[in-house]
Amino acid sequence: MSRRIVVLPGDGIGPEVAAEAVRVLERLPVDVQVEEHDFGGVAIDRHGDPLPAGTLAACAGADAVLMGAVGGPQYDRGEVRPEQGLIRLRRELDVYANLRPARLGDVDLLIVRELVGGLYYGARGTRPDGTVYDTLEYHPDAVRRIVRRGFELARARRRHLTSVDKANVLLTSRMWRGVVDEVAPDYEDVTRADALVDSVAMRLVTEPQAFDVLVMENTFGDILSDVAAGATGGLGLAASASLGDGAPGLFEPVHGSAPELAGRGVANPAAMLRSVALMLRHALDEPGLAEALDAAVDAAVAAAPTPDLGGGASTRELADAALDALVVPEASWT
Ligand code: NAD
Ligand code: IPM
Ligand code: MN
Repeated sequence: MSRRIVVLPGDGIGPEVAAEAVRVLERLPVDVQVEEHDFGGVAIDRHGDPLPAGTLAACAGADAVLMGAVGGPQYDRGEVRPEQGLIRLRRELDVYANLRPARLGDVDLLIVRELVGGLYYGARGTRPDGTVYDTLEYHPDAVRRIVRRGFELARARRRHLTSVDKANVLLTSRMWRGVVDEVAPDYEDVTRADALVDSVAMRLVTEPQAFDVLVMENTFGDILSDVAAGATGGLGLAASASLGDGAPGLFEPVHGSAPELAGRGVANPAAMLRSVALMLRHALDEPGLAEALDAAVDAAVAAAPTPDLGGGASTRELADAALDALVVPEASWT
C-alpha cells in the first residue's frame, strides 16, 4: 500500500535540504507518494497565509509530513509570520511529543519536548497601559501524556528519565513534578530524576553523556535542543520527530531557514536526512531502513562534510555520499 508523504519545503535552505530528502527517499525500497505544498513565508507570498487551507488538509490526510524550514528576515516585520504557520500546524495535528535526539561519540540523549502547549500557546496580549504578556499554562492532562511518553521512550532506551523544570519558581513546574510523582510508579524499571532547567543547560555543555531521555516544557525544549545540538556537532545534524497518538507525524530538522546560507548549495542536509530516518521509524514502520539511513548519514558526514562541519562539500555532495554509503537490509527488498 502506497503511503502519502506531504513535503513542505518552506523557506531559505528548506527547499534545498528538502530536495535531497526527497531524492534519497525515492531511492529507498518504500512505496511512497510524495506531494509538495506551500508553507511558511512562501505561502504568505502566494496565499497571504503561512498555512493555507489546502496545505493543512493535505497534511491532515497524509501518512507523514516532512518539513524543511520556515522564516526569513523579509518576514520579520510583517503582521503575519511564517513561524505562526508552524505553530498552528503542530497544534492542528496535535503532535504533542517532539523527539529531538542528539548523539556523538559517547553522547546519546533524547530531548522530549512538549510541543502543543506551554508558553507558546498560553494567553497573550497587550493591556491598555502598554504592558505585553505571554503566559505559561498547562492542564495536568497535557503534562501527563508527555511525561508518559518520556517514560515509555526511556523504557525502550537506557531507562533513565530526567524531568526538566523550574519548580523552584514556577507554579506550572510544581504541578509538572507532581504529575511525574503520580506517573512514576507505573515505570519502576525507569530511574527518574528531576532537574532545574538552568542547571541542565550547563550540564548539557559540560557532561552531555550523563543524560538519556529528558522531558520538558515547550520553550525549555526549544532552547535546550539547540544546546544539545551544539554539544553534538551542531544544528546541521539535529533532526526531530513530532508525534501525536495517531498519524500523521511531522518530521523536521531542529534548525531554521539559515537565510545567510540560502541559495548557495552549502547547507548541511544531514539533519533533514536524519529526519527522514525518524519518519521511516516512527511513521512508516521501517526500522531497518531507518537504521540503514542513519548509518549512511554518519558515513557521509565523515566522508563529505559541509562547511559547518569544517569541510568543503556541497549539500548535494553530502547527500550523494549518503546514497553511496547506503546499504539496504536484505529484508527490506520485498
Ligand atoms: P537557524 O537554525 O536558521 O541558524 C542558526 C545557525 O546555524 C546559523 O549560523 C546557520 O547558518 C546554522 N545552520 C542552521 N542549519 C544549518 C544547516 N542545515 N547547515 C549548515 N548550517 C546550518 O536559526 P536562526 O538564524 O536563528 O533563524 C533563522 C530563521 O529560521 C528565523 O526566521 C527563525 O524563526 C527560523 N527558524 C525556523 C525553524 C523551523 O522552521 N523549524 C527553526 C528555527 C528557526
Ligand atoms: C524549532 C523552531 C520553532 C520553535 C520556531 C520556528 C517556531 O525554533 O522548531 O525549534 O520555536 O519551535
Ligand atoms: Mn528552535
